[in-house]
This record gives sequence, C-alpha cells and structure tokens, in this order.
Amino acid sequence: MELVKAGSGDFDTIKARPIMRIKDLTIGIHESKQVYTAVDRISMDICAGEIVGVVGESGCGKTVTNLALMGLLPKVLFVQGGSAEFECEDGHHIDLVKISGKERREINGNEISMIYQEPLTSLDPLMKIGRQVGEAVKIHNSGLSDEEVHDRVVKELGEVGLPDPHGMLEMYPHQLSGGMRQRVMIAMATVCRPRLMIADEPTTALDVTVQAQVLKLLKHINQKYGMTIVLISHDLSVISQICDRVVVMYAGRIAEAAPTQVIMTAPAHEYTKGLINSLPSMERKGSDLPCIPGHVPSTEEKREPCPFAPRCALADDICRQQEPPRRMIGEGHVVYCHFVK
Ligand SMILES: Nc1ncnc2c1ncn2[C@@H]1O[C@H](COP(=O)(O)OP(=O)(O)OP(=O)(O)O)[C@@H](O)[C@H]1O
Ligand SMILES: [Mg+2]
Repeated sequence: MELVKAGSGDFDTIKARPIMRIKDLTIGIHESKQVYTAVDRISMDICAGEIVGVVGESGCGKTVTNLALMGLLPKVLFVQGGSAEFECEDGHHIDLVKISGKERREINGNEISMIYQEPLTSLDPLMKIGRQVGEAVKIHNSGLSDEEVHDRVVKELGEVGLPDPHGMLEMYPHQLSGGMRQRVMIAMATVCRPRLMIADEPTTALDVTVQAQVLKLLKHINQKYGMTIVLISHDLSVISQICDRVVVMYAGRIAEAAPTQVIMTAPAHEYTKGLINSLPSMERKGSDLPCIPGHVPSTEEKREPCPFAPRCALADDICRQQEPPRRMIGEGHVVYCHFVK
C-alpha cells in the first residue's frame, strides 16, 4: 500500500491513501416547519483497502450518514453542509454529496455499493434471484450478452458461498434463509467490483453462527478484491471481528476514532468505554450486564455542546458550555472530550 500523509480527517496519521474524505458533513431534517440536525459536522477519511467500522447506539446517525453518500436520503433529510470527496477508479475526484443524477447513476453500484439494513425489504419478493443479480450486472455492463450476464451471476452466487448457484437462479427471496438472502445482497453489491462497499448492519437479523460466516465472507471479499468496506453496526463485538479501524458515533457526532485494537483495549471516550463495558463476556456470566444510563437524545431534543454530557460520569460545566475539542492522542486515535489530554 502507498504510504502518504492522510490529512485532516479523523484518522490523521501515516497510512494508506484515502479514497474518501468526509469533511464537516452535516445532515438536517425538515420536520413540522423546523430544521433539526441528524448529523453534525462529521469528518473522517476512509482509506483504500481497509474495513472501517462505524458504531453507536440506535439513532446516532450511522445510516443517514451513509445514505447521504449514496444520494439516497429520505425526502425530509437533506445535506446542510460539508463534503464527501471520493476518488473514482480512474483517479478523478467527485463530491458525493453534490454530484448530478447522471454521475450518481454511474457511481452507485459500480464504484460504491450499499447493503441495506433490512435485506428482506431490499430484495424484490416477486423477482427470481437470478434476475435480481442479473439486473445489477446489466445496469453497468450494457454490452454483455444474456449468456455472459448469466455466467457472471452464477459465478458470483458461487463466490459468495451460496450452494447450487444454478438452482439459486430460479428461487424467490422467501425460499431462502436469512443468511442466504444476505449473501444474495452481498453478491448484488459486489458483482460490479465497486471500490467501496457500505454494509449497514448486515448481520443484525442473523444468529451468531451465520453472523460469523457473513463477517468472514466480507473479510474474504475485502482481501480478495482489495475492496474497501464500511461496516455499520450498533454492536462493537461484530465490528471488532473484522474491522481495521473504528469510528464511534454519538448523537450525530464522532466521539472517538482509532484502530480497532486501540478502541477495544484503550478506549478514551466515556461513551466508548460504556459500549465496551456493556459487551457480554464469559467472566461476567450470571451477573447483570452494565448499561449506559440515559438515552441517545432524539433530534428534537436540546443537545449540550458535548451531546454525551447528560450520560457522562465525568461531565462538568465546561461540557455544557463549550464543544469538546478534537484531540489526537495517539497514532490514528482521535477523541472529542474535554477531559482527555
Ligand atoms: N426518515 C426520517 N425522518 C425523520 N427522521 C429521521 C429519518 N431517518 C432518520 N431520522 C433521524 O435521524 C437520526 C439518525 O438516524 P439513523 O437511522 O441514521 O440512526 P442509526 O444510527 O442508523 O440507528 P439504528 O442503529 O437504529 O439503525 C435519528 O434521530 C432518526 O430519528
Ligand atoms: Mg441504521
């Protein structure tokens, strides 16, 4: 991997070249003639070939951030500010939150793809698997013959570990297990070999055994094709299994970002510590799991300058008066907290 200084994102360090640089991205919500903030000035770099985990409780803004990158925000949400510069395969740069519809059609599926949070609702229940994956191929490869599309689909279904790929072509989504449906989704997202794949809670609805298989498949795709992956999950134990680095989001902001090993062994932000503390472990078998008191504020609720202050044991007047500064406390380790030096 090429080593260059990566710049001003949240993984500011000597590392691989960034293929996406999100800078001060802010997403607003129009509701009852008011504008609320769902995502508030987040910045991060995503580097070529890495798997980056995005973690945080429900409502922290993980999904809307990534929908904004795909140009798929629901109508009430809109990009209020910031940029998301993406380096295309041919080396030219585009701002994903400002591109035209035409550019978007060329990018989505081909350069960037997304696996959505709910696989059942993302697959067409009335369309056979072969046709659904075939459509994903045809959109970006209009010159391929039907036979070539067919061969590519069969190969891809085999690649993602589905048994009997030929038989699979004739199946409908309801005939498949949850794990198989997720593999079909992964096949659709990877068949055009995008540079970046965003996987939004790809394992949440699956039991732990199938979850482990799907994570293994994502790691395999990352290594085989050098595909960069953003893995979104509310579960740090999922993220820690395959991610190189982790971004912790809280209430539409970044709280902390660091290499996975650092996050898991030396977290600095009280929110990250709370998330790790609430993970089940064998040592604590039989005792109650600690949880973080309080809740993520809804977008309508008033937020303190440090949005975690109401739930934080360390919180002081300064957290309610001033935004926490961005502090770089180790290689690639960024924390937003007044008390971390
Ligand atoms: N369609 C919508 N209309 C209004 N508000 C929305 C909409 N979608 C998301 N939001 C709000 O934006 C904020 C961020 O939501 P988002 O779905 O990104 O959270 P998340 O971190 O992905 O949570 P989860 O873990 O539940 O998927 C939340 O406060 C949510 O209520
Ligand atoms: Mg979500």
